[in-house]
Amino acid sequence: MCGNLRRTRVIEILSAIIVLGLVTSRGAECRKARLLDSFDYTAINCRTHSASLTDFGGVGDGITSNTKAFQSAIDNLSQYTADGGSQLFVPEGKWLTGSFNLTSHFTLYLHKDAVLLASQDVSEWPLIDPLPSYGRGRDAAGGRYVSLIFGTNLTDVVITGDNGTIDGQGEFWWQQFHKGKLKHTRPYLIEIMHSDQVQISNLTLVNAPTWNVHPVYSSNVVVQGITIIAPITSPNTDGINPDSCSNVKIEDCYIVSGDDCVAIKSGWDEYGIKYGMPTKGVIIRRLTCISPYSAVIALGSEMSGGIQDVRAEDILAINTESAVRIKTAVGRGGYVKDIYVRGMTMKTMKWVFKMNGDYGSHPDNHYDPNAFPVIQNINYRDMVADNVTMAGRLEGISGDPFKGICISNVTINMSRKPKKVQWVCTDVEGVTNGVVPQPCSLLPEKGAESPEGITSCAFPTDTLPVDYLEFKTCSYRGSNFF
Ligand SMILES: *[C@@H]1O[C@H](CO)[C@@H](O)[C@H](O)[C@H]1NC(C)=O
Ligand SMILES: *[C@@H]1O[C@H](CO)[C@@H](O)[C@H](O)[C@H]1NC(C)=O
Ligand SMILES: *[C@@H]1O[C@H](CO)[C@@H](O)[C@H](O)[C@H]1NC(C)=O
Ligand SMILES: *[C@@H]1O[C@H](CO)[C@@H](O)[C@H](O)[C@H]1NC(C)=O
Ligand SMILES: *[C@@H]1O[C@H](CO)[C@@H](O)[C@H](O)[C@H]1NC(C)=O
Ligand SMILES: *[C@@H]1O[C@H](CO)[C@@H](O)[C@H](O)[C@H]1NC(C)=O
Ligand SMILES: *[C@@H]1O[C@H](CO)[C@@H](O)[C@H](O)[C@H]1NC(C)=O
Ligand SMILES: *[C@@H]1O[C@H](CO)[C@@H](O)[C@H](O)[C@H]1NC(C)=O
Repeated sequence: MCGNLRRTRVIEILSAIIVLGLVTSRGAECRKARLLDSFDYTAINCRTHSASLTDFGGVGDGITSNTKAFQSAIDNLSQYTADGGSQLFVPEGKWLTGSFNLTSHFTLYLHKDAVLLASQDVSEWPLIDPLPSYGRGRDAAGGRYVSLIFGTNLTDVVITGDNGTIDGQGEFWWQQFHKGKLKHTRPYLIEIMHSDQVQISNLTLVNAPTWNVHPVYSSNVVVQGITIIAPITSPNTDGINPDSCSNVKIEDCYIVSGDDCVAIKSGWDEYGIKYGMPTKGVIIRRLTCISPYSAVIALGSEMSGGIQDVRAEDILAINTESAVRIKTAVGRGGYVKDIYVRGMTMKTMKWVFKMNGDYGSHPDNHYDPNAFPVIQNINYRDMVADNVTMAGRLEGISGDPFKGICISNVTINMSRKPKKVQWVCTDVEGVTNGVVPQPCSLLPEKGAESPEGITSCAFPTDTLPVDYLEFKTCSYRGSNFF
């Protein structure tokens, strides 16, 4: 047996006949029998046409490059974009590959024992232009290596599986980063740009060269059931980074990484201000994060196009530096407003709350020294934390205070060796209610009877459009047999 996939009875019988045929005529070779792989999965759209990577000469031995097989499969399947769309199945095996590009109305599906191994041959990674909202690459000026799985100007694209693996083999890139040898910015694992209706689900991503999942200039993006694992000391291995995107939902993800588990962004200084595309309408639910040197959810530091309406709930953080962190600087411009977080359980944290108005890190010296970011209406409620070194370090910008901070119903247990001062606050304004230990004087306790009347830091009750996106049950039935 090559797999124990669920089949309908009819297909079971048909398969039995065909497998029998293969046994008698050509021998029961696993590779042939796999043509009969049949399963159901969940996606925003189902497809009419199907193919397996092996139909295009793919070899899953971990040594042969499959870059051409992937690209010719997807080029071939792109003829069906206006004819019901297509799905490409990646069977069990180790599939070494360089970067390849997706198409519209397309699904890439990874078998549970399929591993995409990112090539370490730099010629397999074409260079693309820096993001216009960044003006340059993050690691080096100029071009950047295109991501392993890349898509731009697409509609309706799905990357999913029954927990198949994408292995970035990042060590090679981390070494070059540490040695200062990178001439271009490291590739992401998955980048989807200028696209609408994107699903990334039920996969495991390991050892990304840098960021794992980067939806940028896109809308209606769902990231669900993703496991992300990278060494906690690996450089810039952020988990999921929605960047100048609207309507994004991140649910049921488990992330261990060397940088922020989720980082919400929108461009960098003068380039981000000029591009002017905010990230707006983000839902994060049921996220587990382990990141000892970074945040569960970072807002910024690149936020020059603005970040608005982020709603996060049911979060578990273990051994993580901070829970929610706002990172910005003079020169960024833009805004971070209408942020809502509730229901967070934390264990072993350096800080629970962190805001930095002095994050620095500019793309070049041409940023506008008068571009002050606006930070406003930041709400945190219903949280417990244990073994915390310092409750909060909230540092706004002189002459540009961070306003409308509201923290309620938060209990923080300190570690055995806590900082003497539990809260440090500068250039921030707001209120608190039912917060232990007692917050700084800039965030005074206001009872329910207070004229401000905002002591509950209310979480919005309306539904964001991305929550109306519906899933369908789709099928993959062998090759084009049926
Ligand atoms: C690609 O598509 C064409 C139809 O346009 C088809 O005839 C051909 O067999 C396909 N290639 C492969 C390798 O499946
Ligand atoms: C993928 O798309 C990028 C950007 O459009 C391009 O530079 C690259 O050559 C494409 N790769 C292939 C194999 O077509
Ligand atoms: C992709 O979309 C962007 C934004 O609409 C546009 O500026 C760009 O020209 C498009 N690129 C291609 C290759 O169509
Ligand atoms: C997916 O695989 C990862 C890595 O093996 C594992 O930790 C995770 O629990 C799996 N997820 C599911 C839903 O099986
Ligand atoms: C992910 O996998 C789970 C468990 O198999 C399944 O219930 C769910 O529908 C899948 N979701 C998506 C979006 O792929
Ligand atoms: C306070 O937060 C806890 C979770 O930490 C929650 O169970 C409880 O219902 C909250 N209390 C109020 C009054 O909202
Ligand atoms: C805080 O510490 C007390 C005493 O050690 C313990 O009973 C309680 O469970 C802790 N709270 C959390 C949220 O871990
Ligand atoms: C508490 O946090 C410290 C670091 O501040 C860590 O060394 C220790 O293991 C943690 N204790 C527990 C019980 O998790």
